Amino acid sequence: MTVTAAAAGTWQLGDLTVNRLGFGAMRLTGGAVFGRGAPGDRDRSIGVLRRAVELGVNHIDTAAFYFSPLRSANELINRALSPYPDDLVIATKVGPGRDPSGAWLPWATPGQLRGQVEENLRQLGRDHLDLVNLRAYPTDSIAEHFGALAELRDAGLIRQLGISSVRPVHLAQAQAIAPVVCVQNRYGIGTHSGGADDFLRDCGEQGIAFVPYFAIAGEGREAGAGGSEHDEVLAIALAHGATPAQVRLAWTLQQGPHVLAIPGTGNPDHLAENVAAGALRLSPGEMDRLQSLHHQAT
Ligand SMILES: NC(=O)c1ccc[n+]([C@@H]2O[C@H](COP(=O)([O-])OP(=O)(O)OC[C@H]3O[C@@H](n4cnc5c(N)ncnc54)[C@H](OP(=O)(O)O)[C@@H]3O)[C@@H](O)[C@H]2O)c1
Repeated sequence: MTVTAAAAGTWQLGDLTVNRLGFGAMRLTGGAVFGRGAPGDRDRSIGVLRRAVELGVNHIDTAAFYFSPLRSANELINRALSPYPDDLVIATKVGPGRDPSGAWLPWATPGQLRGQVEENLRQLGRDHLDLVNLRAYPTDSIAEHFGALAELRDAGLIRQLGISSVRPVHLAQAQAIAPVVCVQNRYGIGTHSGGADDFLRDCGEQGIAFVPYFAIAGEGREAGAGGSEHDEVLAIALAHGATPAQVRLAWTLQQGPHVLAIPGTGNPDHLAENVAAGALRLSPGEMDRLQSLHHQAT
């Protein structure tokens, strides 16, 4: 029987219900997401998105700045999935921006965030965005920027707000302005930056979703999840007839019911494996072994 994204259970992002096993669109545009290089195969990427939704994925993470010279993640999502299913939650993020050549622009000012929201609306072909994450600024305070997004939410352009690549101090700043439904931060086996474990737990205690990125890629493998894998992950995968990527996803999902997964792939076989990981349950002993690896790994 085919496992669907519902196997991982659901979570509420404010008034939006999502299956905990979602999808990240960053890898859809080809080998050179942020640079130059061969574009991804359009039909394959569209097929991956449609299959994801068939498999029950209803939480897709994207950004207007996810583009390669000939492919845009938002445009692929629009082409593949509109008219959008009622239960689909498309999460995007603003703050960073790139000019048409792909070069990074300075961080958006609070006044420029509206233009970034509108860019996402145009590309996705929607009149409102389900969920917008403010991606962290190299500043101590995100209050002014988050306040600008809260105004756009009040104006009906955005339904829910989140923050990304942030520290606990940023969460407190944002919550003083408007409800925060998710924190999207880097996290996986071996990720410790910024007190990641404590922050994940704090989010759970406050009923806020924690959405890890690089959960499969892990530390030091961000360019792609190929390369060497830890023996412990391999052994546990073998015991379940699973893949190492599935074990990494299951480990993150078992960190708490508020942890959502957004694995990124342009490969239809990897998509099916990632969705099936939502049904993989690691035993307490296996979790302990991976927990030790997590604390040892750098
Ligand atoms: N907020 C932020 O700052 C931020 C930063 C980075 C990413 N993100 C979001 O988070 C999502 C996840 O991050 P990510 O895509 O970079 O990392 P990821 O999901 O941890 O790993 C993706 C890498 O793993 C490979 N992969 C995926 N499934 C696999 C499987 N079953 N078996 C083997 N390899 C597999 C992919 O290659 P293939 O394509 O070959 O499968 C790709 O190289 C992104 O898509 C994006 O939406 C957010």
